[in-house]
Amino acid sequence: MRIDIITIFPKMFDPVVNESIVKRAQQKGKVKIALYDLRDYTPDKHRKVDDRPFGGGSGMVMSPAPIFNAVNAVKKTSKSLVVLLCPQGKKLTQKIAKKLAKYKHLILICGHYEGVDERVRQELVDEEISIGDYVLTGGELPAMVLTDAIVRLIPGVLGDKNSLNFESFEGNLLEYPHYTRPANFKGLCVPSILLSGDHKNIEIWRNKEALNRTKQRRPDLLKEK
Ligand SMILES: C[S@@+](CC[C@H](N)C(=O)[O-])C[C@H]1O[C@@H](n2cnc3c(N)ncnc32)[C@H](O)[C@@H]1O
Repeated sequence: MRIDIITIFPKMFDPVVNESIVKRAQQKGKVKIALYDLRDYTPDKHRKVDDRPFGGGSGMVMSPAPIFNAVNAVKKTSKSLVVLLCPQGKKLTQKIAKKLAKYKHLILICGHYEGVDERVRQELVDEEISIGDYVLTGGELPAMVLTDAIVRLIPGVLGDKNSLNFESFEGNLLEYPHYTRPANFKGLCVPSILLSGDHKNIEIWRNKEALNRTKQRRPDLLKEK
């Protein structure tokens, strides 16, 4: 898989793409992540990528030309999916992350200011993704969130592939609680079933805990198909 990210702040991505699991995924050859500075694609001699909004009003709008140039330069085939990070897009869920993880090539566009010229959405963008109902200053953090959510789903990226089968949002449930050593920490004891070695009953206990937790915290998940 290849993820190309178009941004005016490529350096912001360093700690995310060059650390931990995302870094190891690249070292293992599971994903290639490349950053493109939008300013390298502007026809403006002062490297400007924004302009005032037609019709007046506050803020600046990201001009279409640099974004069209950048996307056309990195788009390899018609199978590439162009994603605009945008608070007005579909809210990111694990299901959406799974769907996007199946693509061979994603191009992520990070907006800024008041957002991008509408013609970018009309002509270039296949999907608009929001990471939640709040407004951030730019699309870089959303692009990092999306990249992380996708990369860990690529087969072979996580050491133990079972981690993906038993985690929150699988089967519309939140995950069961976890404990590690010591069995007694400041008088707080691990449920005895987990120390029993009885794997069948441990599984039953975990399923029950996952269901209770979901009912308490996210009953909406149980109604999802
Ligand atoms: C200040 S926001 C623009 C908000 C826009 N004026 C609006 O009201 O819908 C600038 C950029 O940050 C990114 N952004 C902000 N919040 C986001 C969110 N919740 N999810 C995804 N991207 C977001 C987008 O790329 C957006 O173009």
